[in-house]
Amino acid sequence: MISYADYLQLLPKTELHCHFASTMTATTFIELAARYGVELWGDDPETLFDFADLPEFLVAFRAAHDVLREPADFERVAWEGVRAAVAEGNLRYREYYVNPQYFAARGIGYRDVMDPIIAGLRRAEADFGVGFRIVAAINRRDSPESAVAMVREVIEHGIPEVVGIGQDDLTPENTEDPTRFAAAYRLAASAGLKLTAHVGETPTATPDAVREAIEVLGCDRLDHGYRIVDDPAVVALALERGIGFATTPVSTTICSGWTLDEGHRLRAMIDAGLTVSVSTDDAMFFRTDIGKEYREGLMALGVDAATAKRIALAGIDISFADA
Ligand code: ADE
Ligand code: ZN
Repeated sequence: MISYADYLQLLPKTELHCHFASTMTATTFIELAARYGVELWGDDPETLFDFADLPEFLVAFRAAHDVLREPADFERVAWEGVRAAVAEGNLRYREYYVNPQYFAARGIGYRDVMDPIIAGLRRAEADFGVGFRIVAAINRRDSPESAVAMVREVIEHGIPEVVGIGQDDLTPENTEDPTRFAAAYRLAASAGLKLTAHVGETPTATPDAVREAIEVLGCDRLDHGYRIVDDPAVVALALERGIGFATTPVSTTICSGWTLDEGHRLRAMIDAGLTVSVSTDDAMFFRTDIGKEYREGLMALGVDAATAKRIALAGIDISFADA
């Protein structure tokens, strides 16, 4: 007999929702920051990753991109992140949010970001057997026109591993407002790209944002989506359309301000029969890893072993990988 915690730790896992910069190890992050003279938002490693809420975290998240400059940095972070996740929680497959706009603003072009990341992830796939795909993320802080230009770039380059688009961060008004980027989603859909979006995450988010991402943007899958349970009609819509959710238990304690217990909206999503998978979101920043999300996250939500297995399998079913 093994303990339930060990079962959750050993379960083979995918993760469909993690931000590339957040898969860095803290050691590498601090080393690269020192190398490039990047001044961090704090200098005490004990408190560097303490955030009061989502907007405060997002300031740090944006700044962290500044330590990724040379192809070797991207490739190293890609490979190291997989090695760590295999050890931490038996990761077998991963999908990454990569934000080309963060790097474009620093003069680093689309291929200069994607090519070394893919080289590192391919090397990790050869070394550890962990497959991967990439979702190009629209930064909601930037304009809808800039989002369209980014999607155009994704389509023009046609990198096989870049299979979809998403949207993250918050608008300059600190809202989700998913339909602001409808034109970019229409363009992506016309090129056959998969569609996802961060919605229903924040303390002020609404189930309407979830509905709009499904009905207006035509998303195949959603990131977070917790607010859905505040409107049974949107739950019914997601069930009818077979929409899957890439949720991140630990990050909700900071980004949504919720406690991980049986009353959590994520537990209500599971109980409603929605297709839920589990990921880390921002492992370095929230001091989490894929093993911890299952071991501590699912256990705190009161999820039983059969349901945990269903969640692990959902991560395969709703992935953007080919058959
Ligand atoms: N970027 C990185 N993590 C995020 C999150 N949890 N919500 C919105 N944007 C993000
Ligand atoms: Zn996220």
